[in-house]
Amino acid sequence: MDELMQIARQYNIPLIDDAAHALGATYKGQNIGEIADFSVFSFQAIKHITTGDGGMLTIKNPGLVEKAKRIRWFGIDRSAKQMGHWENDIYEVGYKYQMNDIAAALGITALAEFDDTLEYRKMLFSEYEKQLAGLDGIKLIGTGMKDREHAAWLCTVLAEHRTDLMKKLRAHKIESAQVHYRNDRYTVFGGRRNDLPNMDSTEEKYLVLPLHLRMTLQDVETIGKVIKSGW
Ligand SMILES: Cc1ncc(COP(=O)(O)O)c(C=O)c1O
Repeated sequence: MDELMQIARQYNIPLIDDAAHALGATYKGQNIGEIADFSVFSFQAIKHITTGDGGMLTIKNPGLVEKAKRIRWFGIDRSAKQMGHWENDIYEVGYKYQMNDIAAALGITALAEFDDTLEYRKMLFSEYEKQLAGLDGIKLIGTGMKDREHAAWLCTVLAEHRTDLMKKLRAHKIESAQVHYRNDRYTVFGGRRNDLPNMDSTEEKYLVLPLHLRMTLQDVETIGKVIKSGW
């Protein structure tokens, strides 16, 4: 974040965080959402907080909040409307990005439970740390960092012979998946690039293991045992 902020300041461009999974994550003691100029969180179906679909935008400059509120609803100044000024002007392009009341009701309830949700996910992640510590051929991502804390969304590992591990897990009725793919595999982003050494080195290895609120510590232990038995 420090490096990105420095580049953004140097070139006078706003920094926008894709913070889809980062609700509850921190960097050097600050919450993700209060560092970049704009941070965008996802409340899609399988995130920490779900509103069915949708999300949250946090904005560092308080002077831009009113603008965001206007352009999320066609550029209409709704607060003026609520005060009875119906004939307000639309002077900038707006969209229809507002959250509806049904989604908001889900979100408000999930927000009340959020601290417990985060704590539970972190507890499951810690159990994975314990289970996978020191194992050959598999490395848990997101451990051992002192100045930052992730939000324990999914549990991602780098595994040798990934397909074999997936088969082994499946044989024990444990779901795993790659989940994300490098963007440059898609033609629309311009096709394969050859200057992404970090992506190249992890591409064949990364795998997501189950981590969700319906799991117990024992489930993680079971997954650990299966992995420890080799693949
Ligand atoms: C890194 C990342 N960014 C953005 C998104 C999209 O979020 P949404 O579905 O709320 O648009 C996702 C979805 O999981 C994601 O993983």
